[in-house]
Amino acid sequence: MKKLLITGGAGFIGSNFIFYEREKRPEYDLVCLDKLTYAGNLETLAPVMGDPKFKFIRADIADRKAVYEIFETEKPDIVVNFAAESHVDRSIENPAVFLETNVMGTQVLLDACRKYGVERYHQVSTDEVYGDLPLDRPDLFFTEKTPIHTSSPYSASKAGADLLCNAYHRTFGLPITISRCSNNYGPYQFPEKLIPLMIANALADKPLPVYGEGLNVRDWLYVEDHCAAIDLIIHNGQVGQVYNIGGHNEMRNIDIVKIILRQLGKPESLITHVTDRKGHDMRYAIDPTFIHAELGWLPATKFADGIRKTIQWYLDNRGWWENIVNGEYKTYYERMYG
Ligand code: NAD
Ligand code: TYD
Repeated sequence: MKKLLITGGAGFIGSNFIFYEREKRPEYDLVCLDKLTYAGNLETLAPVMGDPKFKFIRADIADRKAVYEIFETEKPDIVVNFAAESHVDRSIENPAVFLETNVMGTQVLLDACRKYGVERYHQVSTDEVYGDLPLDRPDLFFTEKTPIHTSSPYSASKAGADLLCNAYHRTFGLPITISRCSNNYGPYQFPEKLIPLMIANALADKPLPVYGEGLNVRDWLYVEDHCAAIDLIIHNGQVGQVYNIGGHNEMRNIDIVKIILRQLGKPESLITHVTDRKGHDMRYAIDPTFIHAELGWLPATKFADGIRKTIQWYLDNRGWWENIVNGEYKTYYERMYG
């Protein structure tokens, strides 16, 4: 019997993690703390809202007073921090909120963990803290020892948070773990990210905006596999340790877009090459040897199955993403893509 505090649980990966834990550990109490920014959606959590062992609290992780009150009343055993500003393009437009949430918010959570005591604080980080790899060196991968070398305000803010976690472990003995995962895809991903954006545009017969030539490589992981890895780390992982999570599934953006078009029966003429992202990372690729050796984790979902399930989910849940694309997100979309 434990109580998990899951921050950012109304977003993409956090909500999937709540569903994963609800299923896997029905005896646990789950508390979700989320600010409900543009990326947070209470509708997503509808399946657990009536559950007596689930509680939703709207709060900002950077609001020290609110966070301390939540720790005081809820007394979580384990904290898993998903809450973040997560979109690279938005961080290029407006870095400030990334520092506020990703760095200052993490610091508030770490302070709360020190003050009230927890068994574990887990920081959900990203492989983007390692910077990028060149396209002509397929032999190179990110390991836990790869130096931090960030490119975007987003990755810099995530790296800052990771360094704070390490500092709180070394200086104050806080029992932290950090995971650095590659790109996720699956149900409930906000349609500003590559895969859901391309699915939504293809279904509406709108242009599919590919940055540059579309040759950048990402290492895609089905979201449920990420959730399984985090569950293993918080229960069996070594305190103070970083775990890279990824499944050797590198793909070029242009190939992903073509797969989506093919599966939806839409023409490749919808592909539109647009101005490249500033500072665009070329390639991400994780070496998952350590988490496999230490915790026995391996991804369970093959890309062919994961992308089919994901596309089917967006077809079956049009209301969920159509509400988003027709809401305030429209202003962002028009600003970004014209
Ligand atoms: P998301 O943008 O879909 O969700 C973020 C959630 O955090 C939202 O519910 C939002 O309301 C909440 N939030 C934002 N600021 C907050 C604040 N100040 N206080 C409380 N809640 C706040 O993001 P995601 O894709 O689910 O990513 C979750 C975590 O995983 C992030 O930390 C991200 O850096 C990391 N990550 C994501 C990926 C990916 O491919 N999506 C890969 C690796 C790591
Ligand atoms: P994204 O989903 O934003 O994730 P990240 O930048 O964190 O890896 O983008 C994935 C890749 O897709 C990245 O190389 C940028 C590219 N991309 C496009 O080509 N067009 C788009 O409209 C978006 C949002 C991304």
